Amino acid sequence: MGKIVVMDHPLIQHKLSILRDVNTGSKEFRSLISEIANLICYEATRDLPLEDVEVETPICKMTGKTLAGKKVAIVPILRAGLGMVEGMLALLPSAKVGHIGLYRDPETVQPVEYYCKLPLDIEHRDVFVVDPMLATGGSAIDAITQIKKRGAKHIKFLGIIAAPEGLDALAKAHPDVDIFLASLDEKLNDHCYIVPGLGDAGDRIFGTK
Ligand code: PRP
Ligand code: URA
Repeated sequence: MGKIVVMDHPLIQHKLSILRDVNTGSKEFRSLISEIANLICYEATRDLPLEDVEVETPICKMTGKTLAGKKVAIVPILRAGLGMVEGMLALLPSAKVGHIGLYRDPETVQPVEYYCKLPLDIEHRDVFVVDPMLATGGSAIDAITQIKKRGAKHIKFLGIIAAPEGLDALAKAHPDVDIFLASLDEKLNDHCYIVPGLGDAGDRIFGTK
């Protein structure tokens, strides 16, 4: 089973409460999604490999550490995953960005794929799949299946809020994938929305409702 990390850092918990608030408008909502993604990315990159580098400080020469140059890709699940990209790129400026377009059919809540464009060398990259909401898990499971079909072997999922049902389903469907979250909420409601959640993440980011 992959690692499951629910981040309890005070900065994340504070920002998450403002994010959830029904009175938080799109501008602030977008900033918070990006800031929380940045903080989750910090933890999710903890195991990036390092190598030695010779550095000359103003005082003396020393052996420091540098990232071993492992290639990274960030893949947001459209639309809401887009909100997490900027915060991730702030820490991983050389990452390539792929896109996978999925929406949940409102009747069946099954994911419908409409777009997939990934870096050509995706099989050689550590892939960070990002989507703020993990509800039934259908979208994340499908996205990761598509990314694996194109050869990717090292995948992590970064979300902000998950329902227990979605977390369970994702961990079972892709046991090799580490999962990083800001909160594990209580449940799904009858419309498969996360309770207490934050509502529809895509609509709140883009102001479409
Ligand atoms: C939301 C969210 C996830 C998905 C989660 O997207 O951003 O992708 O639902 O639900 P699931 O775990 O049950 O699959 P939505 O389908 O609303 O599409 P949108 O981002 O285009 O609005
Ligand atoms: N998608 C969302 O944006 N919010 C939910 O609560 C569930 C799915």
